Amino acid sequence: MPVGLAQPTPTAAEIQGLFDRIAPVYDRLNERLSFGLHRVWKRMAVRWSGAAPGHTALDVCCGSGDLALMLAHQVGPSGRVCGVDFSAELLRVAEMRSHRTYRSAPLQWLQGDALALPLEAHSVDAATMGYGLRNLTDIPQGLAELRRVLKPGASAAILDFHRPQGRLAEQFQRWYLDVLVVPTAEGMGLTDEYAYIGPSVDRFPIGSEQVALAHQAGFERAVHYPIAGGLMGVLVVGR
Ligand SMILES: C[S@@+](CC[C@H](N)C(=O)[O-])C[C@H]1O[C@@H](n2cnc3c(N)ncnc32)[C@H](O)[C@@H]1O
Repeated sequence: MPVGLAQPTPTAAEIQGLFDRIAPVYDRLNERLSFGLHRVWKRMAVRWSGAAPGHTALDVCCGSGDLALMLAHQVGPSGRVCGVDFSAELLRVAEMRSHRTYRSAPLQWLQGDALALPLEAHSVDAATMGYGLRNLTDIPQGLAELRRVLKPGASAAILDFHRPQGRLAEQFQRWYLDVLVVPTAEGMGLTDEYAYIGPSVDRFPIGSEQVALAHQAGFERAVHYPIAGGLMGVLVVGR
């Protein structure tokens, strides 16, 4: 599964270094640790972003490009997709994948900061962010930037882990992280990188808090949908 932060208060440079290091195995780990389900959740996020043929779409914290590639399929040849991430190594993987998938893709990969997006205001029809918000050093600023680039009336869907509210689901998530995720990552030589995924989920605002933060960032619409038994969630925001 997507990783958490390496330290309680890591700097942006430390986060960038962490994702550059895991780039070679990131896709394989995601697939194995979610039993392929991350693709189902990502398809839901693409649907809820409202992306449609001809749209200009954005995937923030695109990593190796899963969501951006799905958006490209959704917007079609008359649309355009931009994937933004600050990890050069993950962007390299994304670029290779897009060349394999599309001969002339409406896709652009940009190395940039989610806290200062390299895009003009009101230039995007639909946006996604997958497992990125939890890793931002400044969540309110990340939401404000997302809002800045969206056109009036446009939506964004933000997929991430969620802290389930029921005791059983909470215990299951703890077991999943401690018994499955961390040891699997250890087996691939990524002990430190994955050891703090639990704390990063603990620190991450729950659905109602995400909705409040979205309103504070100026979004007119904000709804959080728990999925996968509440273990994951999609925050859908709009302006
Ligand atoms: C867990 S990965 C998720 C990648 C991809 N969206 C996915 O779902 O597979 C988090 C991504 O966020 C990126 N990231 C974290 N903070 C960022 C920032 N401030 N600006 C740009 N990218 C950032 C990392 O480089 C990494 O690719």
